[in-house]
Amino acid sequence: MAEILPVGEAMERALALLEGGDVVAIPTETVYGLAGDATNGVGVARIFEAKGRPRFNPLIAHVADLAMAERIAIFDPMSKRLAEMFWPGPLTLVLPQQAGNGIHPLVTAGLDTIALRMPRGFGGELIARLGRPLAAPSANSSGKISATTAQAVAADLGARIRLVVDGGATPVGLESTIVKVEGNIVRLLRPGGIAAADIETAVGTKLLRGAISGIEAPGMLASHYAPGASVRLNAQKVAEGEALLAFGGDRAEGWQAAVALRNLSASGDLREAASNLFAHLQELDRSGAATIAVEPIPVDGLGEAINDRLIRAAAPRDKLD
Ligand code: TXA
Ligand code: MG
Repeated sequence: MAEILPVGEAMERALALLEGGDVVAIPTETVYGLAGDATNGVGVARIFEAKGRPRFNPLIAHVADLAMAERIAIFDPMSKRLAEMFWPGPLTLVLPQQAGNGIHPLVTAGLDTIALRMPRGFGGELIARLGRPLAAPSANSSGKISATTAQAVAADLGARIRLVVDGGATPVGLESTIVKVEGNIVRLLRPGGIAAADIETAVGTKLLRGAISGIEAPGMLASHYAPGASVRLNAQKVAEGEALLAFGGDRAEGWQAAVALRNLSASGDLREAASNLFAHLQELDRSGAATIAVEPIPVDGLGEAINDRLIRAAAPRDKLD
């Protein structure tokens, strides 16, 4: 079983594992990441192995500072501005790679672009100490809900990794927002921890939604955040035997009969809801209910990313990756 060490005691052990080409689960402000040295092919391969990813989706490379980012990728002025405004933080930029940047091709699945992010806290310190970027997808087995606590990581991946660094519950609770600047267009490839509207204010233009081609967000297809129970969205009524994922102050009809109930935010705060989303889904899943009914959640602000994850959780399971 993986050892769980608090952030204050984990640095040297984490560095030793990464230097040896092994993986380490680390807290970030969004969700826990399963990190490996992005320049070491064995380390990157171990990430895919531990997650049981049947396909080599491209991973986000995490950097300690802008100088490291600029050694890896070519920044257009708009991307640079976004990095300066939102880093460290839950924003990932997709950029053209610098030639000879040392990033192992398994990180980018052979693409000539790379997804970069500068995380807050322990991850940033770890990358600075290592002196190399860390590739890190969310620390969950493929197709499962992203982990927002060290305990959730250990329960899922504990038998397959050596170390989980415990930084407590992740404050944002949703993965990063992914954008790509294409000339004058800024494309939103994945809604996430920074609301699209905040990015629109920063760049002074509307974001275009969705991928240009299939490759842009391969990890985002179909059922990507699936709990064991099936998920029913926009529930106005709770049916016999269902668990209820609530939002706000008004309950769906028949809520008293729910097998289990969690409220993402009683006050209707979307930021609080985002931070509770994955943990509450997991708790309701553990209730053994066959279906989790989800009350309607507004789509403004972080509601876009919350609804995005819930739609994926509700998607047919035959497309699991
Ligand atoms: O908050 C986060 O972003 C977390 C933490 C650990 O940093 N990481 C995360 O990684 O969510 P992952 O691997 O679960 O999702 C990365 C997403 C995938 O949808 C992948 O397809 C996309 O980023 N991606 C990676 N490289 C890309 C590229 N060059 N072009 C387009 N999409 C890319
Ligand atoms: Mg993921």
